[in-house]
Formats: sequence, C-alpha cells, structure tokens
Amino acid sequence: MGSILLFNQVIKSYDGQTVLHDISIKINDGELFTFLGPSGCGKTTLLRILAGFEKPDSGTIEINGEDITRVTPEKRHISMVFQHYALFPHMTVFENVSYGLRVRGVAEKNIRAKVAQCLDMVRLDGFAQRDINELSGGEQQRVAIARAIAVDPGVLLLDEPLSNLDARLRETTKMEIRELQKSLGITTIFVTHDQQEAMTISDRIAVFHSGRIVRTGSPQDIYNQPQSDFVAGFIGESNIIEKKNFNRFGLTSVEAEMVCIRPQDIRIMEETQVGDLGGRFTGRIIRIEFRGSAIMYHVLVETIMIKVMVFNTGSYRSILPGTAVLMIVPTHAVKMITSSNIAREN
Ligand SMILES: Nc1ncnc2c1ncn2[C@@H]1O[C@H](COP(=O)(O)OP(=O)(O)OP(=O)(O)O)[C@@H](O)[C@H]1O
Ligand SMILES: [Mg+2]
Repeated sequence: MGSILLFNQVIKSYDGQTVLHDISIKINDGELFTFLGPSGCGKTTLLRILAGFEKPDSGTIEINGEDITRVTPEKRHISMVFQHYALFPHMTVFENVSYGLRVRGVAEKNIRAKVAQCLDMVRLDGFAQRDINELSGGEQQRVAIARAIAVDPGVLLLDEPLSNLDARLRETTKMEIRELQKSLGITTIFVTHDQQEAMTISDRIAVFHSGRIVRTGSPQDIYNQPQSDFVAGFIGESNIIEKKNFNRFGLTSVEAEMVCIRPQDIRIMEETQVGDLGGRFTGRIIRIEFRGSAIMYHVLVETIMIKVMVFNTGSYRSILPGTAVLMIVPTHAVKMITSSNIAREN
C-alpha cells in the first residue's frame, strides 16, 4: 500500500523559540518531495516529528488518513537516513543492513536474500563482509540507504544524504537516489539546503524560511514563478529590482512592487555595436566571473549592480571589464514579485 502524508498545522518550539510555524503540507503517494531551506530553518525538526522522535506542540501528522501523531516511531513504518549517517561502526555492512530485519524477527534465510537484494540496489554487492570503517563516505551513504529500505518502509526520509560527498559523487548519487526511489515507488522526503540538488531530484519542493514554508511547487514552477523575493534569491540566481528603480531598466508599464529578472534572460552587447532598440538599458561591466560553461557579468546600471549570464559556447568572446554595454530584457522574462519574505524579517 502506498503512503499519503499530511502535516496539519504543525507548530514546534524549543525553549520558547518557535522553530516551526503552522506547517501544513500534503505529500502524494510515490512522490519525491524535498524540504529545501537554509541551515536552521527547521527541516530536520519536521522530519523528526514525522518519524516520531519529536512531538509537535500542536497540529497533527496523518499517514493515509490515520492520525499518527501519538503513535510510537517503530509503528510508523518510516525509515530515516540521518544527516550524519549513524551506521553502526563496529558492525559489517551485512550486519548494518540486516539490523532492522533481525529486530523484526525475520527468518535468517529471508534476511540473507533481502540484504543481498538491497546491496545490489545501491550497487554494493560484494561489500557485505566489509567493516564500515573500510568504506568511503559515498559507500557508507549507500549502506545507510540500503539499511533504510531493507525493512520495506512505507515512507523514506533522507536528511541531507549527499552532504558528505564530493561534488562529482554527489551528482551521480543524487541521480541514483532518484532512480531507486522511482523504481521502489516509495513516498520519500529528501532534505537539502542546496537548491540545485533540490531542483534536479524532486517532484515537488517546499521552500522553508525561518520555520515557515514560503512556497510549494514543482521545480519548474518555483524557478519560473518565484513569487517572493526570498524564493527568487534562494532558488537560482536573480536580479531583484524595486519599483522605484523600474524606470532605470525601461520597465515602465510593470504593475508590481518588485520584479525578478534572471541573469540569463538579459541580452548583453557592447554598446557601440547596436543601433536604436526599444526596452533597453545601459551599464558598465565591473567584474567578470568565469564559470566554465557560463560567464557571469556584474554590471553597474547607474547605482544598481545586476548580474547578467551568457553561456560560454566555443565561439563566445568575453566582453572586457570597464566596457559600456547595452542590455535588453524581453517582457516575458520579467517576473512579478507579489510578496516579500525578506521585508517581513526586517
Ligand atoms: N533539541 C533541540 N533543542 C533546542 N533547539 C533545537 C533542538 N533541535 C533543533 N533546535 C533548533 O531548531 C532550529 C531548527 O533546527 P533544525 O535542525 O530543524 O534545522 P535544519 O533546517 O535541519 O538545519 P540544517 O540545514 O543546519 O541541518 C534551529 O534553530 C535549532 O537550533
Ligand atoms: Mg538538519
């Protein structure tokens, strides 16, 4: 049976400090749902509440319509891979992965088959007899995942499972996690503070900011319509332009307090190269950031610094710092910001 999860107006505080404010989310069966937000925004706390290791001050948690807020962790059929893997260091890979099955009293021959199957799924067949301290960080991470799925949980929780891996291993492991999750069809919550990771892996994302969910949606929706200045700044790179500066950017007929323009949506050219064009503004290149596949120009437009990104194709010749440039933004690339999470903070 699948698992539909519901957080219903969950509030949690520690020592009088509210760390989760009125969290309500519905997570669909088989979904890979991500909690994304900066450090300290409450992601782990919410996972621990779902797993049953913490009690909310108020609000309820439901799985498939059943209120489990007061059910003990063992009875929730939830497996959690912790932020710091928490493998048993004095045990072998086999002993780690089989642990949950043994606790549940599964017969020895079934344990062997199940462990072999799970190790195979995380591409660690042949590692069963290794000690944990004989494994690399990436391998340990995969053992933690194998241990979590061995008990056939209804829900899988992965708390920053890639944070200890190097950049390249993170890339491959995240795609493997997504494939494994889809092939098992298991409802999964993935926690990260890395927006790029969240966008590549998730079906949907909830963006957290200071214990609140400020946006929920598919990666495309959130990136393309960030709606608030915090989301625009946290997910991908952006230029946020306030109403009082609209005229400097040729944004004369825009009805909003703020807009977001993505750096790659601005066309940039050396000013001398072009004739008369509408919907444009000028500036001067102050700094150039070379990123390999792209070049990020930091351009001063009167008193405002903005970012403009150009893809570095083989033939692209970078404009030099100090050059006066003309920029154009197509109307469809101007995203209205209708709420401010940052302003509320101040
Ligand atoms: N047991 C606790 N006692 C007191 N405060 C706590 C406790 N656990 C968490 N907190 C506080 O609650 C807030 C949210 O913590 P949480 O661990 O959920 O953040 P997070 O989003 O997982 O951060 P990170 O990305 O760094 O893991 C933090 O301010 C933290 O200091
Ligand atoms: Mg955490």
